[in-house]
Amino acid sequence: MNKLNVAVIGMGVMGQSHARIYSELPHVNLVAVHDINQEHAENMAEQFQTTAVHNLEELLKDENVHAVSICTSDDQHFEVACKACDYHKHILIEKPLADNVEDAQGIIDKVKETGVKMMVGHTLRWDPRYYHAKQAVAAGKIGEPVHLHSRRNNSYQNGRRLKGRTSVVMFLGVHDLDAIEWITGDKIVEVSAVEVRKRLKEFDTADAIITTLKFESGTIGSYETSWVLPDNHVELDAKLDITGTDGVINIDILDQSIRVFEKDHKITFPDTMYGVDLYGTQTGIMKEELSTFVNNVLNDKEFPISVEEALRAVKVVRSIEQSLETGQPVKVN
Ligand SMILES: NC(=O)c1ccc[n+]([C@@H]2O[C@H](COP(=O)([O-])OP(=O)(O)OC[C@H]3O[C@@H](n4cnc5c(N)ncnc54)[C@H](O)[C@@H]3O)[C@@H](O)[C@H]2O)c1
Repeated sequence: MNKLNVAVIGMGVMGQSHARIYSELPHVNLVAVHDINQEHAENMAEQFQTTAVHNLEELLKDENVHAVSICTSDDQHFEVACKACDYHKHILIEKPLADNVEDAQGIIDKVKETGVKMMVGHTLRWDPRYYHAKQAVAAGKIGEPVHLHSRRNNSYQNGRRLKGRTSVVMFLGVHDLDAIEWITGDKIVEVSAVEVRKRLKEFDTADAIITTLKFESGTIGSYETSWVLPDNHVELDAKLDITGTDGVINIDILDQSIRVFEKDHKITFPDTMYGVDLYGTQTGIMKEELSTFVNNVLNDKEFPISVEEALRAVKVVRSIEQSLETGQPVKVN
């Protein structure tokens, strides 16, 4: 096989990003899209010049479909992923693998039973800044990590858009909690979290969560995540600071290395990394992630993130949610 035929399931914000990238990548045919909202699926099919298939089973039965991208909401991963396994489709599934540990483990069991290849879209694994941090720690450039701080804060618009269907730490935190363990090569063994509810009360969800982290090696850390950044701020503000015995790593994506001072006294920081339109084609981190999926399926290679690591990230997130529920520190097992 020298071309992968892919269908995208769930045509929201991420599904559209996947569909656009697949339609531009070599070695891929975007053969179908699917969404529970059929009218929306039709519009998307027209936009990406492909076919909308309204019955999921019919889409999965089609032998012309080799792989699927699952871009449904966090609470809609399990059933779709298990069905895709039943029909032997390779899977790129958006993070988090599932919104609870049982479903995440269930998907992994199904993947192993059916022998399909599955990659979980933990985007930071393809972010050059986080990749460099991983290389620097592994090469001993900062000595042994002593303490760290990380954050991922998103806009109030995004918090409202998701309407409490998932928690802020499941939606955003799962990225960094995976990245922190991957970069340090250490395990988070205990979490203690607090939350605040002021702006998203109507959706019965936390605005922000702050967690202290204890690691197997004795390293300590703190993690902050929010989805109530006011609309006059940036859409995404993320940071990672690791202090080691011999050096420090600082990642700060706030201003994207470009500041545009606009005529109405507005300052903007256009995305330079994630999904960047360059001469009419999308380039950046998402493209790298999807390219890895396609190339590694076609060439039968391992993915940079294992399914067990993706499960582990869900476990850490669930431990943080349990700490919020009980008001106590929780051991991560
Ligand atoms: N990697 C990243 O940086 C990143 C960023 C944002 C979101 N995500 C993840 O991507 C996934 C999708 O997020 P989003 O922001 O695009 O959500 P969204 O709400 O914009 O889109 C979800 C789409 O899936 C459809 N859908 C829901 N249930 C379905 C089902 N059972 N079958 C078919 N279609 C269904 C909805 O109609 C909607 O069009 C989530 O898991 C989210 O956590 C990842």
